[in-house]
Amino acid sequence: MNKKNFITLKDFSKHQLIDLVNLAEEIKSYPQDFSSFLSGKHVGLLFQKPSLRTKTSFYLGAQQLGAGAIYYDPEEIRLGQREEIRDVSRTLSQYLDIAVLRTFFHQDILEFVRFSSIPVVNGLTDLLHPSQIIADLLTLKELKGRIEEIKVAYIGDMNNVCSSLMNAFSILGGNLRIAAPRQCFLKPEIISQMEAKFNESGGSLVISSSPEEAAEGADVLYTDVWASMGKEQEIKQREKIFKNFQINDKILKKAKKDNIVMHCLPAHRNQEISDSVFEGDNSVVFLQAANRLHAAKAILVFIWDK
Ligand code: CP
Ligand code: NVA
Repeated sequence: MNKKNFITLKDFSKHQLIDLVNLAEEIKSYPQDFSSFLSGKHVGLLFQKPSLRTKTSFYLGAQQLGAGAIYYDPEEIRLGQREEIRDVSRTLSQYLDIAVLRTFFHQDILEFVRFSSIPVVNGLTDLLHPSQIIADLLTLKELKGRIEEIKVAYIGDMNNVCSSLMNAFSILGGNLRIAAPRQCFLKPEIISQMEAKFNESGGSLVISSSPEEAAEGADVLYTDVWASMGKEQEIKQREKIFKNFQINDKILKKAKKDNIVMHCLPAHRNQEISDSVFEGDNSVVFLQAANRLHAAKAILVFIWDK
């Protein structure tokens, strides 16, 4: 079998990315057609960080595709501590057919991939969260139609979710406005590379420190936590830096009337998103969560498909 991995959306062409989202949509509509796709196979979930949605989606998703699923508790494996990553990778390659990893450092998943003879899925690293974005693209397709025709405002930390969102939009030709505190901007060379990709695909990327400007006329408002997993101890300091980067009623008013509000979850109410917006009529966060399952299944099918 030709080994495929799902590590970064950067690996995808526009055509491939659209196909993957369409596959997720098809699996959502006709789950039975895929119920034995991974029959007799085994998917292992090796997570260094907590997870509700990603764990459930890949675990259940594997089972719904006919595979067996194993979840390894972070404390049980202590990847890289109890045993070197390359040894864990080569050992699991003897038993499993697909590995889904959530690591603190992106470098660690790359190390695992280097030694693995089975396909590897990125279930989140400090750098990227591509499986989340497949679910989000499905959600956007269902609620807003063509990506090229909408304007999405991401307000908050330029983190793993934001980076994968940028990757996807730069490939698809989407229009993305990011508002983040200046000290949290990605490195200028990364932003320049991104801008070049957006230009190539006919999309647009605007990065500023003004949530109001970003939200003006937006179809979609998206946010994520101010302190990602592994940075929780910085929250006091981050609360100060990010205090003006909350999606609240004032920001909502700047967006189009029929805007939708997205959050990958878990959410911290009244930090990055006000309670009223989180619970309000525009919020689609639980549809996003629901779509994680269909997206996870599509990723497993994609990765296994020859
Ligand atoms: N959105 C997301 O990845 O959630 P979990 O961290 O709970 O998996
Ligand atoms: N940026 C968040 C996403 C959680 C799904 C984190 O890395 O903790």
